[in-house]
Amino acid sequence: MKRIGILTAGGDTPALNATIAGAVQRANQARVEVFGIIKGFSGLLNPQVPHVHLNPLFQSIPELDPTRGGTILGASRDYVDSADTETIGRVAERLKRLKVDGLICVGGDGTLNGMQPLSNHLPVVLAPKTIDNDLGLNYSDEASDWYREPNESHPKGYDTKKRPERAFGLDDMINYVTPGFATAVFVSSLSVQRIRTTAESHRRIAIIEVMGRDCGMISLATAYGQPDIILIPESPVEPGPLVDRVHAVLDVQKHAVICVSEGIVDTQGQILGAMSASQDPAGNIQYTGAAQAVKRLLVDQIGDAFFTRQRRNESANAAIFVRKIGHTQRGGRPILFDRFYASQLGGKAVELLLDGLHNCVATLQYRNGGFVLDSIDANKLRDRWGNIHARPLSPSFYDPTRFQPSAKGIEYLRAIFNHALGVDDIESMRTIFDTGNLIHPYDSVNIDITKRILRVEPT
Ligand code: F6P
Repeated sequence: MKRIGILTAGGDTPALNATIAGAVQRANQARVEVFGIIKGFSGLLNPQVPHVHLNPLFQSIPELDPTRGGTILGASRDYVDSADTETIGRVAERLKRLKVDGLICVGGDGTLNGMQPLSNHLPVVLAPKTIDNDLGLNYSDEASDWYREPNESHPKGYDTKKRPERAFGLDDMINYVTPGFATAVFVSSLSVQRIRTTAESHRRIAIIEVMGRDCGMISLATAYGQPDIILIPESPVEPGPLVDRVHAVLDVQKHAVICVSEGIVDTQGQILGAMSASQDPAGNIQYTGAAQAVKRLLVDQIGDAFFTRQRRNESANAAIFVRKIGHTQRGGRPILFDRFYASQLGGKAVELLLDGLHNCVATLQYRNGGFVLDSIDANKLRDRWGNIHARPLSPSFYDPTRFQPSAKGIEYLRAIFNHALGVDDIESMRTIFDTGNLIHPYDSVNIDITKRILRVEPT
């Protein structure tokens, strides 16, 4: 293998440059050239295939800094539709003209779906990433638990459902955690702590919405910021128990902090946020409004009188506020855990290509109290119809009566976060008040990368 391509697809994470850097470092050792495709699959849909040579003379280009968030290659949500064989053929032909012998896609479940048809043309492997931490399996045969139930009112004629999970140990999990998750949780937990003291002062209820689509991992792990109540999509919101819990918290401490996943659902399984959800190009639902929906519920159920009675606030509406942490979870410097394991997984992806494997995924496994690298055939993540599903947060990780992580959930989180921060993560915060920040404009890496972009001649 003389030359490989690498691209970063889907929503970005803070650890993508670390993955690319790990891949380039391993490729340098093996004397393999690495071409980075610009803007994910979008670069392959462009006949000129804009790309950057990431390791001329087998040395990494200086712009590739693993401590920098985002991706120097750019990302997009464009994807390759497996049914569109004509486009796939064109993409394969472009990769041939680029003379790449293998391709690394850094991505999540959506990327894995796009990777499948390409793998019939050249070796392709996935280096995992996603802040949602939903790429993988809770146990090896979980993909077989998905089934279809006929439903004439559904456009596809069926609903996709999952059988209740079977018992599993943490060592059974396939791809224990994805790069990007730890940094997102670092940000969300700090945000909860910051919002906490202002809610406390003003005797308010703060509802904080975190990302994660249908997976409650970010919300669960935001427990590190000590919210009083955590709501996850895997545990439908029951108004009665929720309002009781809010009352119990208010009685004692006069304020409450609630952390909600953007994808929480009601007891009918309907998304609580936007009912008319829009979709990105890959068909992913873009969630919005979960925190607002919980606010409406609490305003209705608790009512104004409760807040005016003790002169705490003028109305329920004024006493309850929502904050969406949003894209701050996806940006900025990756913390040590993400930097280290993202680069390890990037290196592993190169190894897989060198070993002649393809259509497989580099994974991070938990074994005997530590992490090891491994890989899995991508088909093992697909259900019997060939579809990839986001890994749900296991119900065994959550205690719905306390709205907090269960004992097993705590065990799961400790493995990731006990040593997730490095001294330099704390030290790096000191640069915020550098006088230079007031004098120099932001130095975007895009400026230098653009100067390096190469294109192939269209045929
Ligand atoms: O999948 C990652 C993610 O950050 C989700 O948690 C979130 O719903 C979505 O991407 C947001 O996507 P965008 O940046 O395209 O709005």
